[in-house]
Amino acid sequence: MKSAHVGLWLHVLSTTAVLVSAFDPFTTTVLVGVGAALSRSIYNYLHENCDHKWIAFNATGLEASLQTKLFGQHIASHIILKAVSGFMSNDNPKKPLVLSLHGWTGTGKNYVSSLIAESIYKEGMDSKFVHVFTSELHFPHASQMDTYKTQLQQWIKGNVSSCAQSMFIFDEMDKMHPGLIDSIKPYLDYYDKVDGVSYRKAIFIFLSNAGGESIIQTALDFWNAGRDRDEMELKDLETSLSLSVFNNKRSGLWHTSLIDKNLVDFFVPFLPLEYRHVLQCAKAAMEARGLKPDPAVADKVARDLVYFPKSERVFSVKGCKTIESKLDFYT
Ligand SMILES: *[C@@H]1O[C@H](CO)[C@@H](O)[C@H](O)[C@H]1NC(C)=O
Ligand SMILES: *[C@@H]1O[C@H](CO)[C@@H](O)[C@H](O)[C@H]1NC(C)=O
Repeated sequence: MKSAHVGLWLHVLSTTAVLVSAFDPFTTTVLVGVGAALSRSIYNYLHENCDHKWIAFNATGLEASLQTKLFGQHIASHIILKAVSGFMSNDNPKKPLVLSLHGWTGTGKNYVSSLIAESIYKEGMDSKFVHVFTSELHFPHASQMDTYKTQLQQWIKGNVSSCAQSMFIFDEMDKMHPGLIDSIKPYLDYYDKVDGVSYRKAIFIFLSNAGGESIIQTALDFWNAGRDRDEMELKDLETSLSLSVFNNKRSGLWHTSLIDKNLVDFFVPFLPLEYRHVLQCAKAAMEARGLKPDPAVADKVARDLVYFPKSERVFSVKGCKTIESKLDFYT
């Protein structure tokens, strides 16, 4: 028995030796190469990369989330779906996509940006290719504007160089220094390349309250005339929106030639939200927490918010913004 075992082991060992010696340097190189490629693809599988595995636009997904997760914004939904789908299906866009979202606080501008990000990047807002800049956080001091300009240009250039399909979201655009907006202009334009880098596949999203008041006025006019809000069209808002954006000295965009040069592809208005929309937000928030949407709780939450104008109480002052904390209180 024992000698048979030893014999077997010897046989295994010698076979292994023959096998090993059969691996000439070339085969070894190939094997190591295969191993490296394998570990590289495992790495790529686990770590976000600038390729189609991590960046792939889902038009159906965007349409579905705009329909089911964004409330009271039929105009914005429509424009965004068309704009983003059109841009993403174009293999050779002539300029980056530039969206400017306007509307009062809590109406869904930030939220829509995250829905767009989720429809393009597997990692959504957590993607390393999605960059958010907030004026008061990233560029707070007017005295350091020159440093900020250089830094912002380097960031945009660096990020687009490493991934053409990068997305940049500028929050509080109305608080941004005009000089800073000017400094990003070359990247938004119809250039083939700027300093050897093409920006044509990037997406820029500007968020601001600019024009919010004129949008509210139009919505209020509709309401006062007894007209259905859903009948409101972009053209009903366009004139007042562009006038208020152009003429408002506080809001940044108009100091620059972003508009004159047509660098902004789409102005997207966000309407003020009514009680019924807040109700929808509250129900959706409960669902997102894994709770069964409770109409009574949703009603309490919605009634807790402040509405304006004072007499008619039509629109929520903060939109759907404080829903989460109210829910904490009522559930
Ligand atoms: C796109 O989105 C739809 C709707 O959310 C989803 O059912 C589908 O699986 C998504 N497709 C891909 C390729 O992720
Ligand atoms: C990309 O942008 C971020 C800011 O969002 C910045 O911190 C980073 O340095 C940039 N990357 C490159 C390569 O420039």
